[in-house]
Amino acid sequence: MKISIIGAGNVGSTTAMRLAQEGLGEIILVDVVKGLAQGKAFDLEDARSTLKIPYNIQGSDDINSIKISDIVVITAGLPRKPGMTREDLVSKNALILKDVCENIKKLAPESIIIVVTNPLDLMTYFALTLTGFKSGKVIGMGASLDAARFANLISKELNIPFSDIETSVIGSHGQGMIPLTRFTTIKGVSLEEYSDDKKTHALVDKTIGRGAEIVSLLGSGSAYFAPSAAITALVKCIVKNEKRTIGVCTYLDGEYGINDLCIGVPCRIGREGIEKIIELELNKTELETLKKSAEAVRKSIELLPL
Ligand code: NAI
Ligand code: 2OP
Repeated sequence: MKISIIGAGNVGSTTAMRLAQEGLGEIILVDVVKGLAQGKAFDLEDARSTLKIPYNIQGSDDINSIKISDIVVITAGLPRKPGMTREDLVSKNALILKDVCENIKKLAPESIIIVVTNPLDLMTYFALTLTGFKSGKVIGMGASLDAARFANLISKELNIPFSDIETSVIGSHGQGMIPLTRFTTIKGVSLEEYSDDKKTHALVDKTIGRGAEIVSLLGSGSAYFAPSAAITALVKCIVKNEKRTIGVCTYLDGEYGINDLCIGVPCRIGREGIEKIIELELNKTELETLKKSAEAVRKSIELLPL
């Protein structure tokens, strides 16, 4: 499989490293900055003999190198600075996405796109609109990262191994994210039963603020180790046709009573991309919270240069 990553910054280059080390395919890394992607690809290539893994990676500043890719990961765009919300990035990143998506449509019309650029829910919708691809072929990565963060925080706070924890996060990849405490389980026992309310609420709040917490600690740029791990898990699921259910940002057409926007919900992922949207049996409060999150996304769609 040919897997292209557009944007050789922090997320793009760490994703390239993980994909290469997992042996998931031929990796193409592209960036507009002259020499950047090629330099990082050479550096990654130089690790092959130490690791004894003969992966194939190339870097380029020429977008034509993504031609006939099977999967294209979009990480091109500005990250947040301390104090910024993901929405503050809309205008600049929309211009970048426009250019990138027009090229994907022309050069890799059969590809599956994984959108990473923020604000994620808007950029996924924008990529879908710009390419006109089938909705199952445009996948936004956000909810699985949020779920991984939730699991990590639960594990640390309650001293439970990851193998016993199954988290579920839906909604927008931002302040409107919804860590679902009723659907988050520890060996089948819901977090709501397992932990007391105070601890559970604190874990939810910490999960929602985790990205911003990292941004403020870093001082410049945003998280990339956990994001690249989440992207790699998605790519692996597609390449190996695993058919796992993973939280992703997808186009809703009536599911959960929501129409014409992209937001995070659990989906079955396989070789064709999103093969099924899973509709959880949400209670009234959970459904209202999801609809509120969706309405905030809908409002910000107006910011896109459609
Ligand atoms: P970065 O600044 O390290 O890298 C971005 C790269 O994109 C730069 O090297 C830049 O030259 C390149 N770029 C800009 N325009 C381009 C174009 N037209 N074609 C090719 N390359 C182009 O930023 P980082 O940390 O890698 O983050 C990238 C994006 O991913 C940001 O928008 C960030 O907010 C988002 N992000 C989203 C996450 C999620 O869960 N969805 C998680 C982490 C980051
Ligand atoms: C994060 O959640 C910046 O969206 C990115 O870390």
